[in-house]
Amino acid sequence: MKNKPLLIIATLTLGLVSLSANAELTFRNAITGEPLDFSFAKKGGDPEAFKQFKETGKNPYNGNAEMVKKGHDLYMTACSGCHGHNAEGKLGPGLADDYWTYPANATDKGLFEVLFGGANGMMGPQYVNLNTEEMLQIMAHIRDIYKGDPAKAKWLDK
Ligand code: HEC
Repeated sequence: MKNKPLLIIATLTLGLVSLSANAELTFRNAITGEPLDFSFAKKGGDPEAFKQFKETGKNPYNGNAEMVKKGHDLYMTACSGCHGHNAEGKLGPGLADDYWTYPANATDKGLFEVLFGGANGMMGPQYVNLNTEEMLQIMAHIRDIYKGDPAKAKWLDK
């Protein structure tokens, strides 16, 4: 058949388009690279917001004043003891500047991966204490207090 290669390309393209319609990104542990298992996630929160995040990798709460405020309050109890009240760094590194031990933290997907799955040493997985909604709120707070180079704020990239 003369048009076979074309047909194959068309079929592949169609397949990709339908796949990408509702595809979720793969989230991985920052240290081991293992896919994160969301069945461990603490219950609660808005499943729609989290679903949207899993598909886009963009935190739907960024810039949302109400969510930023909730994230601030959660940050104060869950994170400030180790990262400092203004995320200036203490036991753990600063989170408001543009230096990241894990460069992927300049994206919301990367930041979520460290929050959910943890990193080294005292940075344990947070799914034990926080549901995914609360993680997105804390992330929105962290982006809100960012003091680094605006050009390095990769989470704002389209
Ligand atoms: C018990 C202390 C402790 C608590 C509580 C804690 N962290 Fe951490 N965090 C650490 C340490 C230590 C590291 C460095 C780990 C590493 O380099 O692998 C870290 C690393 C991180 C990183 C990676 C930073 C980078 O430069 O790439 C992020 C992001 C982070 N923490 C966010 C949070 C948030 C948000 C919370 C609250 C939900 C939190 N942590 C709670 C101790 C803590």
